[in-house]
Amino acid sequence: MATSPIKMVLVIGASGKVGKSTVKALLAEGFQVTGLTRESSQVTLPADVKHVKTDYSEASLREIFKGHDAVISTVSSIVPGDALAIQKTFVDAAIAAGVQVFVPSEYGVDTSNRSAPEYIPFLADKLQTLDYLKSKQDQISWIAICSGSMFDWGLNIPGFAGWDVLARTVTIYDGGDVRYEATNLDQVGRAIAKSLRKLELAKNQYVYVNSFTVTQNKILNALERVTGERFNVSKGNVEELWQEGDAKWKEGQPLGVISMLAGAIYGKGGLAQYSASKGLWNEKLGLEQENLEEFLRTYVAEKKQ
Ligand SMILES: NC(=O)c1ccc[n+]([C@@H]2O[C@H](COP(=O)([O-])OP(=O)(O)OC[C@H]3O[C@@H](n4cnc5c(N)ncnc54)[C@H](OP(=O)(O)O)[C@@H]3O)[C@@H](O)[C@H]2O)c1
Repeated sequence: MATSPIKMVLVIGASGKVGKSTVKALLAEGFQVTGLTRESSQVTLPADVKHVKTDYSEASLREIFKGHDAVISTVSSIVPGDALAIQKTFVDAAIAAGVQVFVPSEYGVDTSNRSAPEYIPFLADKLQTLDYLKSKQDQISWIAICSGSMFDWGLNIPGFAGWDVLARTVTIYDGGDVRYEATNLDQVGRAIAKSLRKLELAKNQYVYVNSFTVTQNKILNALERVTGERFNVSKGNVEELWQEGDAKWKEGQPLGVISMLAGAIYGKGGLAQYSASKGLWNEKLGLEQENLEEFLRTYVAEKKQ
């Protein structure tokens, strides 16, 4: 599909964690932004954003999407068949409204790997959305942003993937030298905005980005330097971490997926290790990598942690 420069961009789930960072980056890149939320949402979006609410019916979406060049989905769910599964409706409505490009809710591990849902069940919905988009790419372009572990999102959840920054404790898995890709929320937003600016390059592609490639030991060293304190360290095993989540998941506890996600970040399935195998898009997009220690210094200061 031929493309023309993107001007009007709509963000689905604009008040969410990725949604907020995306809106911020789009405004900074000079796009005109519409933020979509559910009817029930009580949030206030930034003054420069046109706020529209929907019941998520296809008819409502088709009307709302009209006039937009790009639609970005940032909806989220850890339960298969829930919010991520309704993205097919978004795609149909976007095609009917003449939207040029749809960015599905990815922003995580590498879903170009067909076995990804074996490690994190809700990824089945993400793969299905991408398969659907690929089958329609003569009518609408797509961009899959692959950003690995959401770094600050994870640090904000005490205990996630072994870290509790405030308590100065960490569980180090498999010796702590497993390399993986980590991306901060604002960097995800910038990756989306910059991909839209370089649409000819990014359309119908998996776009691999990060803030930094890290290991747990590198993070621990940096955290100890910026806090000036020693962390209490325990040891863990990636396979056991993932198996524990899988067992909970199979018992019907959806939150088991959190341990499966952490296990995947630390190497299970090889889904968050792509900078060497796939090559990063940061330079092509004009998206600077970040400095781990500088980032953590600011993070710790802002959180007063
Ligand atoms: N790799 C990682 O470590 C990592 C970490 C976090 C997230 N992610 C990914 O990033 C994406 C966005 O996640 P997030 O954490 O930013 O999400 P979030 O803040 O939890 O939610 C985003 C938005 O989704 C909308 N939403 C939630 N349930 C919905 C439903 N049933 N129907 C319609 N809309 C619904 C809500 O919008 P309104 O209430 O405003 O309508 C919400 O603001 C997801 O694909 C997620 O898997 C990856």
